Amino acid sequence: MGIASLYDAAMKNYPYVITISSEKGGVGKTTLATNLAIFLKALDENLPVSIFSFDNHFTIDKMFAIKGQKQDKDVSDLLLETPGLDLLHTGQYGVNYIPSSGALSGLKTSMKGPMVLARLLASSGISGVLIIDTRPDLDILTQNALFAADQVIIPIKDMASMENCRNIFDLFDKRGMDKKTLSLIPCLVDERVKFEGMFSDQKTLLKPTPLTAVTAATIPIYPKAPRSKVSTPIRRARFIRS
Ligand SMILES: Nc1ncnc2c1ncn2[C@@H]1O[C@H](COP(=O)(O)OP(=O)(O)OP(=O)(O)O)[C@@H](O)[C@H]1O
Ligand SMILES: [Mg+2]
Repeated sequence: MGIASLYDAAMKNYPYVITISSEKGGVGKTTLATNLAIFLKALDENLPVSIFSFDNHFTIDKMFAIKGQKQDKDVSDLLLETPGLDLLHTGQYGVNYIPSSGALSGLKTSMKGPMVLARLLASSGISGVLIIDTRPDLDILTQNALFAADQVIIPIKDMASMENCRNIFDLFDKRGMDKKTLSLIPCLVDERVKFEGMFSDQKTLLKPTPLTAVTAATIPIYPKAPRSKVSTPIRRARFIRS
């Protein structure tokens, strides 16, 4: 697929959704989400790239907001049925962002199941790629972000974060969702830590087979990005595999 396909994707009025998720805190979700947004935008400035976070750290805002930008609405308004396109601000690096909210926990109880966000994004008018940064839990907001995703990236920092993946796999099983959308990515791997056995050479972490063996997962690690038009730059840049 050529660059023309990207323009096709950019013409659509619903996004290709990449959700970054892990129940484990501090594994690099937000860092990965923000850098991926900048990276994808740098691949092609004509590809709309948008991001928002369900976390209340306001990192997205600090990273992308342009000084003086008026922010009267935020991601809570998306959940209250404001069209997503109306909430987007063009931010630093040309990345669009929806401002974060400190009041999402109050909305959780009124969320009617895990499919609400998928419906809202389908009619959002947002085109191109949308990256969703999530909180370190599997609450109803994260579940909605997982359900809406075309691709889920789970950063893995250590054994605990790898074991936590099981809960996401189980959730996918419970909801009958396709685990092919899941990818694990080693993040924050500390080269000073020396392992015995199969990880004594840490570069082994970047190869699919040993990770599959460790997790005993039935899904491939670093599966090929789905053959959608928008995912072409991801494959081309070898992001998933490098
Ligand atoms: N690839 C990286 N190399 C070095 N430092 C990193 C990398 N990714 C993240 N960090 C650092 O690790 C810390 C945690 O990262 P980050 O906030 O992205 O994790 P998180 O999973 O979003 O955390 P939380 O669960 O609290 O939302 C930060 O201080 C960040 O700067
Ligand atoms: Mg975070």
